[in-house]
Amino acid sequence: MEDLREHYSKETLNEKDLSSSPFTQFEKWFQNALDSRIKEPNAMILSTLGEKDIVDSRTVLLKGLEQEQFVFYTNYNSDKSKQLREHPNCSLLFLWLDLERQIRIQGKAEKLDASKSDEYFASRPRGSQLGAWVSDQSSRINSRDELEAKLKEVEQRFEGKEVSRPEHWGGFAVTPNHFEFWQGRPNRLHDRLVYEKEGSIWTIKRLQP
Ligand SMILES: Cc1cc2nc3c(=O)[nH]c(=O)nc-3n(C[C@H](O)[C@H](O)[C@H](O)COP(=O)(O)O)c2cc1C
Repeated sequence: MEDLREHYSKETLNEKDLSSSPFTQFEKWFQNALDSRIKEPNAMILSTLGEKDIVDSRTVLLKGLEQEQFVFYTNYNSDKSKQLREHPNCSLLFLWLDLERQIRIQGKAEKLDASKSDEYFASRPRGSQLGAWVSDQSSRINSRDELEAKLKEVEQRFEGKEVSRPEHWGGFAVTPNHFEFWQGRPNRLHDRLVYEKEGSIWTIKRLQP
């Protein structure tokens, strides 16, 4: 492990090239990630605060950036959802190693409007829709067989019918108040540019690497 040493030299990140809006800057980098065809550029690490101040992290998929909110979908009974209900402050992290880039976001999560969750749920493949009924996400299950049996039961229940959205499944929208755009540079002297919200204004500062 100690011999693994990557040299970062692909790009630079300068104040003059930054958009004044972190959302526009995010969209620009996201488009670069799409263009470079990296796998699942919308995968992001969501970190939350759990019971007894335990910090928890897992990957979720960004499914929209709408009205300056980052949207993902999940099971509302899952551990992450319980944690977010208790502590809405959370962080989102995108790591795009092929581009030598990282984006860190801090913000506050709230449940998405049911109508928006309905709309997105209706667009999902049928298998994923059935899966949302099958999985009681984050609860213990005795075996894989039990899960497969639940799937059969749900398939029968919805045979020949549209699969409705279960109430326990839907979106969260994260409203950011802090962004850091990180670009790897030679000699570990990376570029780190931070946006912070003061009132309705985003200010930009550079951090030491
Ligand atoms: C690439 C990837 C994408 C994922 N996307 C989602 C997602 O969008 N929503 C979700 O609930 N879980 C997603 N998961 C699973 C979560 O990482 C996690 O296992 C699950 O949500 C349970 O987390 P929790 O027990 O902390 O609530 C994804 C996992 C990976 C590896």
